[in-house]
Formats: sequence, C-alpha cells, structure tokens
Amino acid sequence: MEERKLFGILAHPVGHSLSPVMYQQAFIKLGLPYAYHPFDVPPERLAQAVSAIKVLGISGVNVTIPHKERIIPFLDRLDPEAEAIGAVNTVVLEKDGTLTGYNTDGAGYVESLKEETGLDLSQCKVLILGAGGAAKAIGVYLLKEGVPHLTIVNRTLERAHQLACHLEKYLKSRSSPLPAKITVRSQADLAQNKSFDYQLIINTTSVGMWPHVNEMPMELGPLPPSTVVSDIVYNPYETLFLKKAKEQGATIHRGLGMLVYQGTLAFKLFTGYEAPVDTMWEAVRNHLAGKAK
Ligand code: ATR
Repeated sequence: MEERKLFGILAHPVGHSLSPVMYQQAFIKLGLPYAYHPFDVPPERLAQAVSAIKVLGISGVNVTIPHKERIIPFLDRLDPEAEAIGAVNTVVLEKDGTLTGYNTDGAGYVESLKEETGLDLSQCKVLILGAGGAAKAIGVYLLKEGVPHLTIVNRTLERAHQLACHLEKYLKSRSSPLPAKITVRSQADLAQNKSFDYQLIINTTSVGMWPHVNEMPMELGPLPPSTVVSDIVYNPYETLFLKKAKEQGATIHRGLGMLVYQGTLAFKLFTGYEAPVDTMWEAVRNHLAGKAK
C-alpha cells in the first residue's frame, strides 16, 4: 500500500495555475493516494514556506512566478542543470529531510517544441523575446541542443545583456565546447529594422497572458516562409502573438506543451513513476476549454 503524500505549487498569485488539476488527475490515473495543493506565497514569506515544506513533510513542490530564482538560497542543494540555469521550478524533499532544487522548464520546452514542430535546432537561428527565469532555462537548453545563433531582445536592455553573459558562462563551463554565437538586439532596433531572419522566434515574457489577451510582446515584421513562432504563454490557448504569426503563414508552437512536459519530468522526480502524459494533456485542455465557455 502506497503511503499518503502531499505535493503542491508555490506561486503568487496562484489562482491561475493549471498544475493542481494536471497532477491531481495524474495521481488518480496511477491510483496514487497523493494530493496536490496550490499555495499562495508572497515573496516575503518564501523562507517560511520553504521551512514549512520540511516541517510538514510536504514531499515536493513546483515553484513558479515570482519565486524561481529567489528560492535558491533556501534550498540545501541544486541539481547541476538547475545550477547551470540559475532557477528552480521543482523542489523535492529527500528521505534525509533535505531539499533539492531542479529545473525541468528548459527540457520540457525543448521536448514539446521538437515533438510539435520537428525543428532541427542545430540548424536554427533563434530570437528570444524576454530575459527572465523562463528565458534562462530555455536559452540553456537551446544551446545544449546545438543552436548556433541566439539573439536576445528584452524591454530592459541591461537584463538582456545579463542573460547573454549568463549563457556565455554556461557555454564556457561545458567540457565539450559549443560554438554558439549569442547577441543582444534592442527593442528599438528590431522595431525599426523589422528584419526577422530567424527560423525560430520565442516569446518567453508574460505579455499576452490572460486577462491581457490583446497585448503582444512586439509587432512582427514580415516573416520568411517556414518561420516557427513559439509562445510560452498557455492561457489563452492561442495568444494574439501566435494568431498574428499564423496569419502570415508561420508555423506556431503554443505554450501548453511546455507546461505538460515540464510537468511530466517533475512528476517523475516527485514520484519515481513515469507520468501519464495523455492524462495530463487531457486535464489541462479540459480545464482551459471549461474556462473559455
Ligand atoms: P519568468 O521567471 O516567468 O521568466 P521574470 O523573471 O519576471 O519571469 O521575467 C519576465 C520577463 O517578461 C522579462 O523579460 C520582462 O521584461 P523586463 O526584464 O523588462 O522586466 C518581460 N516582461 C514582463 N512584462 C512585460 C511587458 N509588459 N512588456 C515587455 N516585457 C515584459
């Protein structure tokens, strides 16, 4: 007989999260006596919340906005990938009572992107919009996949440079060097020159997320045929940014796949079991469809 366990998500706000429904359905599918609870934790109470994980014996938590970077000092150790990324989205309470931080965002994103678009990343010139925690995780994984040229654009230019430095450091830290070129472009330059000669354009910002569904991270200029445009925002299911890209004939990649695949990887870390991926897809799709009615 399986032991009862509690998992959860630390976020602020947390009401929009699809994780509770996604994991709860997965636990039911595998007949596991586990529960998953959304915890709304403001940043100033994060340290207490992390202590509570240990004190209460919560078996694992997902971590999202705005805690992915802030949580690191409160953990006992980081998995090497989370360390390379510099952000954590999954925390596991080990048998000895210590906490380990992992990051499954980058791997989940790349898995979803490859499955849905079939892109060969080793041949892709990529434009990343945004320079926050999600961009860090995705950037590291794109480099790992052999992307030869990555350009970063962000509202705050300084932060784009910081991300470029972080990724350069990652490239240098690898035992087998990756010959990737990383550049920064200003938003103004992109808006003026409107040259979108990229095989893959990714929005990693939260712009366009419900309820601000009429906003876009930027206006897209004319896109070369066969451009793939990707958005990590999953609510709405198809953002305005993706709708506009589709109108131009681009292939689009929606954000829901990253949510599901980062979740399946975290599920394995939490439980040791392979995640029921179809059940998790169904749970999030049904939930979004229900909300759209
Ligand atoms: P996450 O961990 O989810 O990536 P984050 O670290 O807060 O969250 O990063 C959010 C990203 O979205 C940043 O690149 C942010 O740009 P700034 O660095 O200029 O803050 C971007 N972002 C958020 N709201 C934005 C807006 N209204 N317009 C443009 N960019 C925005």
